[in-house]
Amino acid sequence: MKTFSTIKALREALSTVRNAGNTIGFVPTMGALHEGHLDLMRRALKENDCLVVSIFVNPIQFNNKEDLEKYPRVLEADSKMLESIGCQYLFAPDANEIYPEPDKSEYDFGLLSEVMEAAFRPGHFNGVAIVVRKLFEIVEPETAYFGEKDFQQLAVIKQLVKMLEMPVKIIPCSIVRETDGLAMSSRNVRLTSHERQLAPNIYMTLQKAIKLRNVLSPEELRRWTREQLEAIPEFNIDYVEIAEDQQLQPFQHWNDASGAILFVALFLGKVRLIDNVRIF
Ligand code: PAF
Repeated sequence: MKTFSTIKALREALSTVRNAGNTIGFVPTMGALHEGHLDLMRRALKENDCLVVSIFVNPIQFNNKEDLEKYPRVLEADSKMLESIGCQYLFAPDANEIYPEPDKSEYDFGLLSEVMEAAFRPGHFNGVAIVVRKLFEIVEPETAYFGEKDFQQLAVIKQLVKMLEMPVKIIPCSIVRETDGLAMSSRNVRLTSHERQLAPNIYMTLQKAIKLRNVLSPEELRRWTREQLEAIPEFNIDYVEIAEDQQLQPFQHWNDASGAILFVALFLGKVRLIDNVRIF
């Protein structure tokens, strides 16, 4: 695997790849890699001639200073994992390389900017959009892979690519879970052992909720899910939402949506966890 920290050197290497007629699959990450990331990468390797992974903890998408400071940074271990799955190119720049000066771009994602993560983490998606646009411009991949755990991020990135007419295909990939159901996340390592034991209750509750779709209205099901989660005192809920699967807007009657997702965001101790399941 070749590792690059400058845009110039990576661009040169990738232009050779492209000139040889090879396709590039791209997985942008913030590092602290886990099976969920590797799943995206294995798929990218299968569907492209060449895999590029970026590791960059993007400061401008954090709206919480402590979350940014505590975000795990383990480049050496990450590099080993990437080598082991056959990744060919790693791009691991520092913040000055990506932001030689502040990027003041502002994006309007319409209704997507009003709900859930956008409402609870002001500025977050603008920061994600800026870095993803920059990374796409640098790597120029044919395809890029994103996990459905960050379902709203995926919707925002699809919209960004459409708005800017970027020639990249976005591939959504299913959530990868631990054997006890907890959605894999780089933040999970920050849970204490007690919190780690409680965390699977999130997915257990979501699964039970899916089964109640035929007996409860969307509003009743939101309330039921919230009450179940609130019964665990360590869970500090940001939101429980049921939304249609395009613009992620809440709705009142099951017939109002052609697809519906149940979303949860909560703090467990100091760690913010998100998860979601498709109801239909
Ligand atoms: O999902 C992530 O890890 C980040 O939000 C991303 C897409 C790499 C942008 O920094």
